[in-house]
Amino acid sequence: MKHFLAWAKSGSRELELANRIDPKRLPRHIAVIMDGNGRWAKKRFLPRAAGHRAGVKSVRSTIEACSRLGIDALTLYAFSVENWKRPKDEVNTLWSLLLSYLRQELDSLTENGVRLQVIGRTAELPAEVQAELASAIARTAGNTGLTLTVALNYGGRSEIVDAVNQVIADARTKGDAVRVDESSFEKYLYTAGLPDPDLLIRTSGEVRVSNFLLWQIAYTEIWVTDKFWPDFREADLLEAILDFQGRERRFGGLSDEPSTEGDEPALVGASASSSEPPAAGDFSE
Ligand code: FPP
Repeated sequence: MKHFLAWAKSGSRELELANRIDPKRLPRHIAVIMDGNGRWAKKRFLPRAAGHRAGVKSVRSTIEACSRLGIDALTLYAFSVENWKRPKDEVNTLWSLLLSYLRQELDSLTENGVRLQVIGRTAELPAEVQAELASAIARTAGNTGLTLTVALNYGGRSEIVDAVNQVIADARTKGDAVRVDESSFEKYLYTAGLPDPDLLIRTSGEVRVSNFLLWQIAYTEIWVTDKFWPDFREADLLEAILDFQGRERRFGGLSDEPSTEGDEPALVGASASSSEPPAAGDFSE
């Protein structure tokens, strides 16, 4: 949190909002459905690709802000299993934006302790994208700051189906009777090791979950803004967090029950506390 306060300009809306946030009750895991790139471009009579390009700036500022705030995990929905239905040119633009983002920002992500991981059917991604991701993941694997998960060729239903098939395969090789409970089943999901999202942000005013993290968002607080993704900035993130902090999470219980926070799983390979990431705040502008 202190890195964010040091970064925010004196007298700015970001500083005013950040000062209202309770640093002890930050969401551990924020997930984002980045929506509205196309409509942002259309409003400006620009090609859809321009919307995606502008969306990368929001990706950058959101990652940096989460890192400076000391959020443990951020998951971005960048490409769904359904997105292959888009024109080939648009799909290729998305891959080339991802590649250039990784090439340009990897040093800065590494220096700021960000650990990258990917969820989805990644074996179906273009070979060049798979190779760049593998090297970025390997390079950031030892980092202990923000865990940044990018969902690529991701679908919540396919994730569950993949997990079920893995359970069956495991049972076959081990020769055991097939039996899972919620906690053992979660270990088969792409997100094994990540706590469930506390907060799900969706831009562009659509109120739906679009096949994103279907298992994991059972008790997630959802915050929707009318802003298109390319217009999403630090102040919007802070507003979402403030709104989250004003909500009462009962997890199906009663309001005077003790919090269940202490029971949540630790982040695998990452700091489990909301402590400050190393040197965050040093991202190049
Ligand atoms: C949704 O807008 C956005 C996407 C499907 C892609 C998001 C990708 C990026 C922001 C760029 C690359 C990502 C990274 C992680 C560097 P939409 O096209 O569905 O908008 P519309 O609903 O207005 O048409």
